[in-house]
Amino acid sequence: MFKFSSLFLNNTIEVISMKQREGNKIAVIIRKMTMKDYDSLIELWKKGNIPYRPQGRDSKKNIRWQLQQPNCFYLIAENHGTIIGVILGTHDGRKGWINRLVITPAYRRKGIAKRLIEEFEHHLTAAGINIVACLIEDWNATSMDVFERLGYTKHTDILYFSKRKNMKI
Ligand SMILES: CC(C)(COP(=O)(O)OP(=O)(O)OC[C@H]1O[C@@H](n2cnc3c(N)ncnc32)[C@H](O)[C@@H]1OP(=O)(O)O)[C@@H](O)C(=O)NCCC(=O)NCCS
Repeated sequence: MFKFSSLFLNNTIEVISMKQREGNKIAVIIRKMTMKDYDSLIELWKKGNIPYRPQGRDSKKNIRWQLQQPNCFYLIAENHGTIIGVILGTHDGRKGWINRLVITPAYRRKGIAKRLIEEFEHHLTAAGINIVACLIEDWNATSMDVFERLGYTKHTDILYFSKRKNMKI
């Protein structure tokens, strides 16, 4: 079982997570992302095999710009100063979108992704957005399982179409 408390301090969300299973405990802070986290996030995405666009929407310049936007809720999970998870949450005024969610392998299955998603969902609710969605590659069965466990519905009748200026973005 997990026990959480959550509070807002100067735009920082502090979450203490205690894993009581097997007797060991972990303390997890959930807070807003800053540019200081950028390099660690790239490492996390690389290790998590998350497809990302270092020359496109995930470049340093673009992430810096995104962090300044009111519809971007980028949250970090940290354990004793080490970044162990991230979610890039956005909304377009109609729906919320979960992007680039990843947890360091050693910290998986401890409820950390769940907490990041819940925290993002709280922000969406506060912004008046009541739908949250994510796109999952068809090979990523684990991610599908996780989202289904968290109450998300899989839509098998929708295909993703996009139009891009180039393949790097
Ligand atoms: C997907 C991912 C973010 C999940 O992170 P996590 O911290 O391990 O997930 P949680 O521990 O919060 O689990 C959330 C729920 O999913 C379930 N779950 C977690 N991993 C699971 C797995 N491998 N298979 C089935 N269910 C799983 C948990 O039991 C939990 O359900 P519960 O609350 O009913 O017990 C993590 O596996 C990861 O980083 N994967 C690689 C990157 C990736 O694919 N990201 C998603 C892109 S869309």
